Amino acid sequence: VKADTTPTIGVFDSGFGGLTVLRALLQQMPHARYVFLGDTARLPYGSKSRRTIAKYAAESAQFLINEQGAEYLVIACNTASALALDAIQEAVPVPVLGVIEPGAQAARAASQTGDVLVIATDATVQSHAYANACKALGLHGIERACPLLVPLVEEGWTDNAVTAEVIRIYLDQLQADAAAENLHPDTLVLGCTHYPLLRPLIEKVLIEHGPKEIRVIDSAEATAERAAKLFHQQNSGAPGRGHREANFASRGEDPDSQTREANCAQVHCFATDSVEKFERLGSRFLGCPTGPVELVDLGG
Ligand code: DGL
Repeated sequence: VKADTTPTIGVFDSGFGGLTVLRALLQQMPHARYVFLGDTARLPYGSKSRRTIAKYAAESAQFLINEQGAEYLVIACNTASALALDAIQEAVPVPVLGVIEPGAQAARAASQTGDVLVIATDATVQSHAYANACKALGLHGIERACPLLVPLVEEGWTDNAVTAEVIRIYLDQLQADAAAENLHPDTLVLGCTHYPLLRPLIEKVLIEHGPKEIRVIDSAEATAERAAKLFHQQNSGAPGRGHREANFASRGEDPDSQTREANCAQVHCFATDSVEKFERLGSRFLGCPTGPVELVDLGG
C-alpha cells in the first residue's frame, strides 16, 4: 500500500473506551491508517456541561487534524457526539461522523415495536440526543443514565456479580419507565463507549431476568458500518480517487488474530494522561495491543 493513497482517519474519545469504535472500524476498513486520541486527563465527559465538553472535544479534534493529518474524523465518544457534534464540525475542515445517528439507525433496523431503550452517561441522557435521533426516525426512545457502569468497566469488572446486579437494577428501572408509558421496547442501544465490553453480561442479565426478546445494539459497530459506507461513497464518486477506495474498502469479516495484529500496527494512539494505564487497559477495548501510546498536552 503506497503511503499517499492510504487515508488517515482520526478517532476521538474522552478516554480509551472509544477503542471499541476503532476496533469496529478496523474490521470494516482494515487498510486505513488510524490516529486515536483519548482525552484521559479530562475524562469523564459524561458528568460535564455542554460548554466544557464542546471546548475539550474541539481542541482534541483540532489536534488530530492539524497535528496528525487526519482527513476524516469519527467521534467515538457518545457524550461528545451528543453535545458537541456541531461545535466539532465548526472547528475543523474535514468530514465528521458521530455515533448517535448510526446507533439510532441501527435501532430502527432492529426494532419491530418502534420502542427503543437507550442507556448512556448523564450528559448524553440530559441532552436527549438519542431520543431526538429516534424521534426523527419514527421511534420512541426511552433513555436512562447509568453512571455506575463506566467506573465498573474502567475497574475491569466486566464479568462480575456486582456489575450484573447494577445492570439488572438499571434495566428494571428502564422497563418500569417504559411500562408507565405503555411502551413495548424490543431493542436496547448501548449509548456509551464502555458498554460494548459489558454486552455479554447485559445479554446474560436480559436472558436471566427478562425481557428475553430485547435485541442489543452496539453503536460502535453501527458507526463503523456507516463510516465505511460514507468513505466508500465519497471515494468511489470522486474522479481519479477510485484506486484509493481499494486500499481501505470494507470487508466486515472478523479477521484472524494474525491479521488483526497486522492491522493494529496501522494504529497510533495518543492520550492526555497516563499512557501506561492506556496501554494496559486499552488492549481490552481494541482487541489487540495498542502499541506505544504518546502523551500529548492539550492544556487544562
Ligand atoms: N466516552 C464517554 C461516552 O461514550 C464515556 C466516558 C466519559 O464519561 O467520558 O459517553
